[in-house]
Amino acid sequence: MTKHNSPIIAPSMLSADFLNLERDIEMVNKSSADWFHLDVMDGRFVPNISYGMSIIATMKKKAMKTFDVHLMILEPEKYFEDFAKAGADILTIHYEASPHLHRSLQAIKALGMKAGVALNPHTPVSVLKDIINDIDLVLIMSVNPGFGGQKFIERTYHKVKELKAMIKEHNADTLIEVDGGVTLANAQAIINAGADALVAGNTVFSSPDPMDTIEKLKGLEK
Ligand code: DX5
Ligand code: ZN
Repeated sequence: MTKHNSPIIAPSMLSADFLNLERDIEMVNKSSADWFHLDVMDGRFVPNISYGMSIIATMKKKAMKTFDVHLMILEPEKYFEDFAKAGADILTIHYEASPHLHRSLQAIKALGMKAGVALNPHTPVSVLKDIINDIDLVLIMSVNPGFGGQKFIERTYHKVKELKAMIKEHNADTLIEVDGGVTLANAQAIINAGADALVAGNTVFSSPDPMDTIEKLKGLEK
């Protein structure tokens, strides 16, 4: 995927105000954010349930940026077509929920979407060695998936560096996205480790001025 000079910023709509969803979507539209990060949870792969394709399709009517959909669900392959129809531009599935990852990635791409793979904190990046050239984006979970507002796991820096080296070694054009516990205090260090895209939920939506917080993240040096 195309590399950018500034980090890609993906506000996580999980932390948006669902009573004012349209307002929050417009805020992201107007901001310097690049993507909408959309977290789908099934209460089985992760201990929480969020929203699914119908909410995403509804949001798509107002949202004007790339839809970066993160599936935290078992048997994600059952729903690829539904998420394509709902408006997903990037569809990311978990390594831990995908026994036939190679086939799943091809299926996502055949539906016209970019294909991403997410890794839980305990999963080493080395498991992607033989498939890295087939992946458009690797999402490194820097918290345990399921909830916004958790604390960043420090080991993530090492994983991002290792993944960056693997991508270089294989001449791949895979983007690295870091998801969970990203703050204004640690974002620069995450970018320095090699991240291309940062997800930010709590940091953006709990700040007094979400647009300005997005601007600050976007302004970091890559
Ligand atoms: C967690 C989700 C994240 C979450 C991030 O399972 O994948 O996208 O919304 O939220 P913050 O940025 O608050 O950690
Ligand atoms: Zn996410």
